[in-house]
Amino acid sequence: MGERVVEVALGARGYKIYIGWGNLSSLGEKLRSVVVSNKAAVISHPIVADLYGEKVVGGLREAGFETHLLNVPDGEEYKSLEVASNLYGKLAELEFHRSDCMIALGGGVVGDLAGFVAATYMRGVPFIQVPTTLLGQVDSGIGGKVAVDHPRAKNLIGCFYQPRFVLSDVSTLKSLPEPEVKSGLAEVIKYGFLEGERLLSFLEADLDSLLGIERDVLVKVVAECCRMKAAIVEEDERDLSGRRAILNYGHTVGHALEATTGYTSISHGEAVAIGMVCAARIARRLGLIDEALVERHVVLLGRVGLPTKLPISDIDSIQERILLDKKSQGEANIFVLLKGLGKPALVEVSPQVVREALEECS
Ligand code: GLY
Repeated sequence: MGERVVEVALGARGYKIYIGWGNLSSLGEKLRSVVVSNKAAVISHPIVADLYGEKVVGGLREAGFETHLLNVPDGEEYKSLEVASNLYGKLAELEFHRSDCMIALGGGVVGDLAGFVAATYMRGVPFIQVPTTLLGQVDSGIGGKVAVDHPRAKNLIGCFYQPRFVLSDVSTLKSLPEPEVKSGLAEVIKYGFLEGERLLSFLEADLDSLLGIERDVLVKVVAECCRMKAAIVEEDERDLSGRRAILNYGHTVGHALEATTGYTSISHGEAVAIGMVCAARIARRLGLIDEALVERHVVLLGRVGLPTKLPISDIDSIQERILLDKKSQGEANIFVLLKGLGKPALVEVSPQVVREALEECS
């Protein structure tokens, strides 16, 4: 299967997402077609740079780019203003100018951080996303949300800054630790429930191939997810109308769980998996979906090896965290729920129903 291309139609800010197997080698030639400068900085972290740094930097140099590899430490705690400030310093030292470009090579942390620096250094330099995790390839690498964290909240300081293109080489997923693949699959499955029978049935039928990182299935599924996200971003680029918010299916309880457990004992994908089951149980209680659809959540996520039950019995603290988040956003208790397979909507839910659903999930 050749490379697939998904367009994100945003007028002057529009771009292409390239999804392929082994297409990392085409980065230099693709970059050449969108930038005028001959200078590039690749922002990565040591583990990814060890695996792909030489190939990426070598390819860019071959294509005529003066290329600098700038590593940042790995981990959410380094998605900070301090690390961003170090990068500004290095770019200034290297005499980077407005037409020189930045490339994020890595997962969500590197993509968000490098994107934020690219958006703000000299009021914005060309930026390319090269996500090497499944989560990055189907979600965080697309759509232009870039940010750093603040001690008070994740992603508190950020902006929308679209990349010039996204290059996803799905063969890089072979080097991902299994838990990270599974974590990314939670987001892929999320797209299945949001899209409907066509994608969900495909995922149910081909899950083993996905888990085995089989080339054709993976390229197809990543491209399907990108197509869906691109369409949503085209409708609601700045997350204002509620359309883009549907991408947060499973994330209300998921984020509360991550915060309650201190972002360490549970991965993002695990939290979202449990969050989707909770959302499905809420929808069932409200009569929006039937038990069979709830069961499809539990079975599919369970087949991946993702959890479908709350890991802690302290429902009060999860519920408090949900309310706290909502209060800080000035919103009521609003969840993304399915009003049937492939029919997501924002729905206000009473604390009592949330509590009952959480109890059912414990
Ligand atoms: N990750 C959710 C969004 O891009 O809106």
